[in-house]
Amino acid sequence: MRLSRYFLPVLKETPAEAQIASHRLMLRAGMIRQASAGIYSWLPLGFKVLRRLEDIVHEEQIRAGHIPMLMPTLQSADLWRESGRYDDYGQEMLRITDRHNRDMLYGPTNEELITDIFRSTVNSYKELPKTLYHIQWKFRDEIRPRFGVMRGREFYMKDGYSFDIDEASAIHAYNRHMVSYLRTYERMGLQAIPMKADTGPIGGDYSHEFLVLADTGESEVFYDRSVTDLSLGDRSVDFDNVAECQAIVDEFTAPYARTDETHDEALFEAEVPADRRKSARGIEVGQIFYFGTKYSEALGAEVVMPDGSRKPVEMGSHGIGVSRLVGALIEANHDENGIIWPEGVTPFRVGIVNLRQGDTDTDAACDKLYADLTAAGLDPLYDDREERAGAKFATMDLIGLPWRITVGPRGLKEGKVELTSRRTGESELLTPADALARCADIYAGL
Ligand SMILES: Nc1ncnc2c1ncn2[C@@H]1O[C@H](COP(=O)(O)OP(=O)(O)OP(=O)(O)O)[C@@H](O)[C@H]1O
Ligand SMILES: [Mg+2]
Repeated sequence: MRLSRYFLPVLKETPAEAQIASHRLMLRAGMIRQASAGIYSWLPLGFKVLRRLEDIVHEEQIRAGHIPMLMPTLQSADLWRESGRYDDYGQEMLRITDRHNRDMLYGPTNEELITDIFRSTVNSYKELPKTLYHIQWKFRDEIRPRFGVMRGREFYMKDGYSFDIDEASAIHAYNRHMVSYLRTYERMGLQAIPMKADTGPIGGDYSHEFLVLADTGESEVFYDRSVTDLSLGDRSVDFDNVAECQAIVDEFTAPYARTDETHDEALFEAEVPADRRKSARGIEVGQIFYFGTKYSEALGAEVVMPDGSRKPVEMGSHGIGVSRLVGALIEANHDENGIIWPEGVTPFRVGIVNLRQGDTDTDAACDKLYADLTAAGLDPLYDDREERAGAKFATMDLIGLPWRITVGPRGLKEGKVELTSRRTGESELLTPADALARCADIYAGL
């Protein structure tokens, strides 16, 4: 993409309404624009990041054996009356009436709809297990939408639903989700710590929230510092292997890590040496939940067992806040000049800055680099505007591309361009071919 042809409405002023860095930077970098309270248009740069996150989520869910599909945003109220949640959900639910006076709603989540699909299509235990998921817009009429996309009213969420024949199989589905989520966040360059979550009236041990540590997070968290040393890394996981998934879950859930909702100070002090006890703020970027037969009983989602009896299926739901993650990523990766995208999620992989736009040789060198980077799949953003170098650098720093190649007449005399890391600020003088090779190396496997 050439910046002269792109749509990147950056703001010079810091928007007064934005209280936290990610919200400010998303507005300033032209990633989003508020349409109304808690509802945003995703401008091209923001949309590119959102799509990238969505791709990673799909890849990791499919790797774990989960099946993608798509359910609508608008749902019929009748199903929610069956589950009893139409009244329980209260004012957070956006209720709509169609022209035939039928009650509809904009889905805040999809347990009812997926359970309805399941009950009307699956009959036998032989068809289990199944995990179906989609990535779709949700609406929750939050009292206080704030912090930009972090707490929107309309937001983009991956929600997956597991259907299993018994508790052991359902727990394996739960573990599969935990492991696949750990991989997902790590690929995004984020550390999200699984923390024991409140299961509400259902009870039991099977809910975890995934928290990204950040001062601006809305949750208060308590954890054993050793949990932050854990990482999945590049181990290959067999998602069908029950013991292997359980071992990873055990490893990541052994150290104490809880939000204020489940925090137990006495236990914290008993389990964790004082010098490892940490309390901090965190952003919830996902949650997994095994809740047994709550919805299958309410909606009659049963399968026929080998002995001919009927049994309600064991269910879980598992969510990732895809649009919130864009904000969380920026909270965890920025400095005073702007965003610093991890390579795994950056909207463009390399920025090209032409220091002397209109100079024949510099333009030609930039054009060639642009063509070569494009051909190598390195998705460059070429700043070819008639602007001062300072303004071009400021834009690149603001939008946060991890690598920048600067091309000017002085370097070209020696046959060199400059490759700069956004994160460290360090630069290297390289031939254009070597700069390309370095970038190809950095992005290999991403
Ligand atoms: N209003 C929102 N704006 C953006 N993302 C959200 C919002 N509400 C929930 N999410 C994301 O969707 C994920 C799954 O939804 P879930 O039902 O667990 O949310 P929740 O626990 O009600 O969230 P919260 O406690 O932050 O209100 C959350 O982990 C979060 O990342
Ligand atoms: Mg939650």
